[in-house]
Amino acid sequence: MISFTLPGSEGSLPSDLAYLVQVQERTEPFRIVVKKQVTSTNDIARGWAEPYGVVVADAQSRGRGRLQRSWHSPEGKNIYMTVIVPLPAGFPSAALLPATVAVAIRNALLEFIPKHAHELFLKWPNDLYLQGRKLCGILIERIRDELFGAGIGINVNMTEKDFPSELRDRACSLCSVTGKTFHRGHLIETVLGWLLKYRTTLVQNPLSVVQEFNSNSLTTGAQVVITTGKDRFRAYALGMTPDGALEVRTEEGKKTRITSSDVEVVLGQ
Ligand code: BTN
Repeated sequence: MISFTLPGSEGSLPSDLAYLVQVQERTEPFRIVVKKQVTSTNDIARGWAEPYGVVVADAQSRGRGRLQRSWHSPEGKNIYMTVIVPLPAGFPSAALLPATVAVAIRNALLEFIPKHAHELFLKWPNDLYLQGRKLCGILIERIRDELFGAGIGINVNMTEKDFPSELRDRACSLCSVTGKTFHRGHLIETVLGWLLKYRTTLVQNPLSVVQEFNSNSLTTGAQVVITTGKDRFRAYALGMTPDGALEVRTEEGKKTRITSSDVEVVLGQ
């Protein structure tokens, strides 16, 4: 048994997260730090910057999402974690890391909710939707060179009434959909296993990640509305390209590529 001396793990954790400290050996090469509360796990990961380091928190005070949004992070309910993912030096397909993480999480969650495979979808660039509502968001930030912090928020045990009113119609959790509660440690252990597997897939066969993303995507083949700065236009989404962009056909029939940094894609309006 490895003694747990990594920086910052804390006592009095909820038992389903404390479990992660006990299973360190099983989750190698990952090194997991579990915290009661942080500003954002992505911030802690950036300071730590050790390949395969994982920061898990029971709550975040300033959880953040894409496009400068905040991420609702109440205590004791959900998964907030950042995995420090190394890619090979000069790796040309790093732009596919968000899709890779999303595909890995979909596979992990299906171990827990196999009956929901037909309604658990990816949405470009890297969200997971269950029954048409957002279940999981991913925020990838480059730490340096080919070292990335993959921030993962999964709504797990929030019930319908735990959601703030502005999210109630748009977000869901594993519990709000199934009526069951889930052990976050088991979920995280499983997510890490799939992440490791899909990191290898990305390095060896990046196109297969694109294919798997497109086959399970709500966006591919859908009418979408794209907002970039002040522009807002309708288009038909053709799918994710091998460099992680979204290829769309505009109403004027022009094909164009959308990159994720400053764009919001809304389905079917
Ligand atoms: C999004 O959908 O906009 C991305 C949300 C990402 C949320 C996770 S929670 C863990 C990690 N820490 C953060 O502050 N954000 C990510």
